Amino acid sequence: MTDPQVVCRRLVGRTAVVTGAGSGIGLASARRLASEGAHVVCADIDENAGKAAADAVGGLFVRTDVTDSVQVEALFQAAYETYGSVDIAFNNAGISPPEDDSILTTGLEAWKRVQEVNLTSVYLCCKAALPYMRRQGRGSVINTASFVAVMGAATSQISYTASKGGVLAMSRELGVQFAREGIRVNALCPGPVNTPLLKELFAKDPERAARRLVHVPVGRFAEPEEIAAAVAFLASDDSSFVNAAEFLVDGGIAGAYVTPL
Ligand SMILES: NC(=O)c1ccc[n+]([C@@H]2O[C@H](COP(=O)([O-])OP(=O)(O)OC[C@H]3O[C@@H](n4cnc5c(N)ncnc54)[C@H](O)[C@@H]3O)[C@@H](O)[C@H]2O)c1
Repeated sequence: MTDPQVVCRRLVGRTAVVTGAGSGIGLASARRLASEGAHVVCADIDENAGKAAADAVGGLFVRTDVTDSVQVEALFQAAYETYGSVDIAFNNAGISPPEDDSILTTGLEAWKRVQEVNLTSVYLCCKAALPYMRRQGRGSVINTASFVAVMGAATSQISYTASKGGVLAMSRELGVQFAREGIRVNALCPGPVNTPLLKELFAKDPERAARRLVHVPVGRFAEPEEIAAAVAFLASDDSSFVNAAEFLVDGGIAGAYVTPL
């Protein structure tokens, strides 16, 4: 099979900001966007991981806590000042801590922390990116939600699920509001991906992993590169009529009733 990263050059000259670029989906996406020709600005709270990602893609690292409005504004300003535009905002940083569990045991502090990192951050990043895109009359915003934004799980992470539902609803509304200004906003809804976040969760509870895999029609979790391919599509003009979408990349989970043995 031809390596798509070798032949696709859909983002030459575009500037992409990727939050949570130091690991998992963000790292794979930073690589893919750069391979398609974009200037990539890597944002992460983890200085070592974020810097390594930026070095790997020949991009810029801006240490950013995405829950801090001042730092988020500085991130998009740095992207603009360094490369002259903000064309793609992949608002992807998120957490899934073990303290966020069933509503019966999840405390208010854990609830609030997850809302801040997963949902408030997306509000802040969109608020900071949109003025640049409006001035350009062009932009693609991709916000990472999750398949749990569209379906429920008995293995609950209540604040995580609620935060991703919020990301989905906010993305839809922004996609509608700014569509006639040439800006598209989509919610990326990945199924379970083989990343540190999921591996850590499942290492602690293998039964949870097995329970979840039963529901995946393709019989495996996604690789980060498979999600990154969808990010590159949504970032590029190939998706010019895809807007305000609930963009599922889930191996068929959300469409399944009974899966093959
Ligand atoms: N892994 C999955 O199965 C899966 C499935 C659906 C959706 N998602 C979502 O995809 C996104 C990425 O997940 P991942 O699996 O790649 O996670 P990951 O843990 O591999 O990477 C997340 C990155 O975000 C960074 N980060 C955390 N808090 C931050 C903050 N306050 N400011 C800036 N950066 C911060 C971390 O340092 C890390 O580099 C998340 O929003 C997650 O909820 C993941």
